[in-house]
Amino acid sequence: ETAGQLDTEQTMQQDGYIVVGYVQVGSESDWRTTNTQSFKDVFTQENGYYLIFEDGQQKQENQVKAIRNLILQEVDYIVLDPIVETGWESVLEEAKEAGIPVILSDRRAEMEDDSLYTCWVGSDFAEEGRNAGHWLENYLEKQGRSGETVHIVSLQGTLGSSAQIGRTDGFAEVLQQNENWVMLERQSGDFTQAKGQEVMKEFLEKYEDIDVVISENDNMTFGAIEAIREAGRTIGSDGDIIILSFDAVRDALKAIQTGDIAADFECNPLTAPLVEETIRRLEAGESVEKIQYVEETYFDCEMDLSELLESRPY
Ligand code: AHR
Repeated sequence: ETAGQLDTEQTMQQDGYIVVGYVQVGSESDWRTTNTQSFKDVFTQENGYYLIFEDGQQKQENQVKAIRNLILQEVDYIVLDPIVETGWESVLEEAKEAGIPVILSDRRAEMEDDSLYTCWVGSDFAEEGRNAGHWLENYLEKQGRSGETVHIVSLQGTLGSSAQIGRTDGFAEVLQQNENWVMLERQSGDFTQAKGQEVMKEFLEKYEDIDVVISENDNMTFGAIEAIREAGRTIGSDGDIIILSFDAVRDALKAIQTGDIAADFECNPLTAPLVEETIRRLEAGESVEKIQYVEETYFDCEMDLSELLESRPY
């Protein structure tokens, strides 16, 4: 950190602002763009905050370095969205020793000593995965295809991230209960559109009989749709392949309307208001819940989404 940055940060603190360092995952998806904006909108000087934004660019080592910088700057709070679940103990020990509370947002971090973070605010990823599985069960039943063999491929998110682990495991629970569902292959597309397209292309070259794609975020789904079209295959209830996705960003809701996505399980990107409320409580000396879930739902091809699309900001 430059001396200039340190000076600005210390002046802001002296002026009574609460200095918050936000360590973001990267900018891999539309969801992420909205999540970043949500922090910039909420942690404003008008609201009494000075936000230092750190971009991890999808690399844990960058996030660790950013946390160390924030400790050096003696910020008041560190908010961390951990790219992967493991490997955080030593740097969070350093934050604890410096007396800086760490709030986890969106993804989780696994550690034996949970006193290394104050609380976590985010999605129930395993529930999202289970919901996708149950939705597929119902859909196939309505189509009279319950007993049929169903071939599935999975585009996974960044391996080791809690969004990937939860969605994969949640869906796998339902998969195990359906003997006629066959998981042909799971592969990571790292939550990006380009990687999603690449992996889907590979799947299509390897397997002729894919019935269902379960894609662990919307951007990989957009890439997968491209790959399916390029391969000359059709999508949707009248087509060869049906797609289930996660996030429910704007373009994905539009893709539900056109029939390209069959169902989308929401991941709420607006974690910043809950994090801010948590900080306010801590400042007031109140206790906070260790685990805080954001509200989420799902959307599918049987719903009329036009009103929602008018009002939804992302
Ligand atoms: O951690 C949340 C996930 O990360 C979202 O599903 C995805 O779009 C993002 O990259």
